[in-house]
Amino acid sequence: VSLLTWYDNQARVLPWRSPPGTPSPDPYRVWLSEVMLQQTTVAAVGPYFARFLARWPTVTDLAAADDAEVMAAWAGLGYYARARNLLACARAVAARGGIFPSSEAGLRELPGLGAYTAAAVAAIAFGERATVVDANVERVVARLFAIDEPLPRARKAIRKRAEELTPAERPGDFAQAMMDLGATVCTNRNPRCLLC
Ligand code: ADE
Repeated sequence: VSLLTWYDNQARVLPWRSPPGTPSPDPYRVWLSEVMLQQTTVAAVGPYFARFLARWPTVTDLAAADDAEVMAAWAGLGYYARARNLLACARAVAARGGIFPSSEAGLRELPGLGAYTAAAVAAIAFGERATVVDANVERVVARLFAIDEPLPRARKAIRKRAEELTPAERPGDFAQAMMDLGATVCTNRNPRCLLC
C-alpha cells in the first residue's frame, strides 16, 4: 500500500486539516496550527487552536490584537518566543492585505516564520512541493533508509532522502501522512514494524 493510500484511509482527523484529497485548508489555520505544534503535542494544541480561531478568526484579526491578550491566550503552550513571533508574522501578513505568500521562499521572508513552518504551510496550504521534516519524519526516513548515523550528523542525509520522496502531487497530504505514520505506526518506542 502506498503511503498516500494509507493516509486516505487512516489520516487522523484533526481540526486544522482538510480530509485527504480535498481542497487545502485556509493558510491561516495551517500556519497557526504548525506554530502551535512545534514543541507541543497534538492533544494539547487542540483546545488552544479552537480558542484562537474563535477569538481571532482571521490573520488580520490576530494582527490587531493586544500583545498581552495574545500572550495570555498562549499561556500553557510554553515557549513564549513562539507567541511573539506569531504576532510579528501576523502583522506582516496583515500589512500585505491579510494574504500569506504562497511559496516556501516567500513565506520564509516573513518575520518569525522559520524553515519548518514555511515548508509546512507551502505544502499543506498551497500544494507546493516542499519537504516538511520534523522529528517524526526524521525517524521514519532514517529507519526507511537504514541511516544509522546518530542524529545531528544524519540530518543532511535524512533531508535529502525526504526531498527525493516528496511527490509533486499532494505534497501536503504526503507531509501529514509521514507525520501520522511516525505518530501511530513508526513510533519512537514499540514501533509496529510488522504492520508497516
Ligand atoms: N505536527 C506538526 N504538524 C502536524 C500536522 N499538520 N498534523 C499532525 N501533526 C503535526
